[in-house]
Amino acid sequence: MMVLTKPAIEHFPIVKNSCKATSFFNDVPVIDLSKPDSRNLIVKACEEFGFFKVINHDVPMEFISKLESEAIKFFSSPLSEKLKAGPADPFGYANKQVGQNGDIGWVEYILLSTNSEFSYHKFASISGVNPETIRSAVNDYVSAVKKMSCEILEMLAEGLKIHPKNVFSKLLMDEKSDSVFRLNQYPPCPEIEEFSGKNMIGFGEHTDPQIISVLRSNNTSGLQILLKNDHWISVPPDPTSFFINVGDSLQVMTNGRFKSLKHRVLTNSVKSRLSMIYFGGPPLTEKIAPLPSLMEGKDSLYKEFTWCEYKKSAYKTRLADNRLIHFEKIAAS
Ligand code: OGA
Ligand code: NI
Repeated sequence: MMVLTKPAIEHFPIVKNSCKATSFFNDVPVIDLSKPDSRNLIVKACEEFGFFKVINHDVPMEFISKLESEAIKFFSSPLSEKLKAGPADPFGYANKQVGQNGDIGWVEYILLSTNSEFSYHKFASISGVNPETIRSAVNDYVSAVKKMSCEILEMLAEGLKIHPKNVFSKLLMDEKSDSVFRLNQYPPCPEIEEFSGKNMIGFGEHTDPQIISVLRSNNTSGLQILLKNDHWISVPPDPTSFFINVGDSLQVMTNGRFKSLKHRVLTNSVKSRLSMIYFGGPPLTEKIAPLPSLMEGKDSLYKEFTWCEYKKSAYKTRLADNRLIHFEKIAAS
């Protein structure tokens, strides 16, 4: 029997519900991808929330279901088997530990690189799990979601009147694009009773560092976003749609016109939540800087840095830290 240094349940972060935090956010901007005039709505959603939901996309449901069933197969394996796919250093399986700097949450996950050479060898000796089937399910899903992400980024560029329209999407299309993919599973947490007024933190508050994140979850709620009025609000789940959020890099490229969105996940006491997230990032050597056409005569709010430098700095931080602060220019007095 393997001995695990698992944090005791009383060490997990919880939040007390205020009535605000438990209400559902019914005004999530909805973008219909089949309508070309959605481009202006995307810009508006990115400015107002840094968040929106996408419907009428062309990601085949078949790819989503296939990956979901592979994920369920993997996560329902015994812990001792799943641990063979760990640690997440950064890629692989991890349980309760989020990142390398002491954050914990009621979650287990697999983090994968989306580049074609990425090897699934960590999954090779897990009984009942075929690494080749996982690889092909992830590849089909990621290719379709990446294509949709690029369409969204091109509509965004058109909405912002930037030429050429592939300024953002080309970074995801680049064969060296440093994009990652994550499968998160939040087991139900029965220790926290449904009406106790408390919720366990599944994934602590944070912003995503890349350009754009694309999330799909099963029908279990848990995702919350922080509105500009500083209230946390729950996002109703929708397994047939995607939720998009602005990442730190897009905030910088728009010189702060779009803000990366703070979000977190609270666990459910009865149902497990399964989410799959594609994080579209630039190549490591790419300079992340405001696009000249968005500067409107203003100075950049940020020091110059490459995605590699940003990532290195981000790896040293805790989940909730403001990672961009180290790259902000101090306003001249
Ligand atoms: C993330 C994240 C939300 C979820 O992995 O960065 O925000 O629902 N996940 O798992
Ligand atoms: Ni996130």
